Amino acid sequence: MKIILASNNAHKAREIEQLLPQGVQIVTLREVGFNKPIIEDATTFEGNALIKARTVFAEYHQPCLADDSGLEVNCLNGAPGVYSARYSGEGATDETNNNKLLENIKGKADLSACFRTVLAYIDADGKEHLFEGKVNGNLTLSPRGSEGFGYDPLFCPVEFPNKTFAELSLAEKNKISHRARALMAMNAWMKTES
Ligand code: IMP
Repeated sequence: MKIILASNNAHKAREIEQLLPQGVQIVTLREVGFNKPIIEDATTFEGNALIKARTVFAEYHQPCLADDSGLEVNCLNGAPGVYSARYSGEGATDETNNNKLLENIKGKADLSACFRTVLAYIDADGKEHLFEGKVNGNLTLSPRGSEGFGYDPLFCPVEFPNKTFAELSLAEKNKISHRARALMAMNAWMKTES
């Protein structure tokens, strides 16, 4: 079965393919020739994932998948959340985002946080399905590690309390990450459907 991924990221497409049942082929927007802008202006991960999946489904009427992820910090009332990629504003980079986060959590007693991913899948009949993955952890005030991306150097998952995500190998991170867990949930559901 072919699923259109609402993303241009070929690397993400291959990763997703590996975590879904055999025979599922993930194709990117570039591969299907979709190049219209998609405005992700919802205030939840669910909302943004659905915006992306619905936009692509409306064009092709074929199975579509979209994901949306981010970091939620409890002492910041869930920020940066859906604004994770652009937390530090126009031209944000991982470094400026991490610096802003460090500034905002300085002196806070509760450094608990989680990464969340929501996958929105629209099947061939247009039926919508949501899958979620979450990993809990704590932020550290001393960024460490060189693997990964985004907020990885600041986040210690509960499964490895003394290591940041950026100190884990990709294989270790992929066993517990929010994205992998959301895909495992979708994988389990697809197996029951087939
Ligand atoms: P996306 O929805 O997967 O593009 O994620 C949005 C933003 O959330 C990214 O640009 C990162 O800032 C942050 N983020 C999502 N997943 C991760 C992760 O696994 N590690 C670190 N940061 C992440």
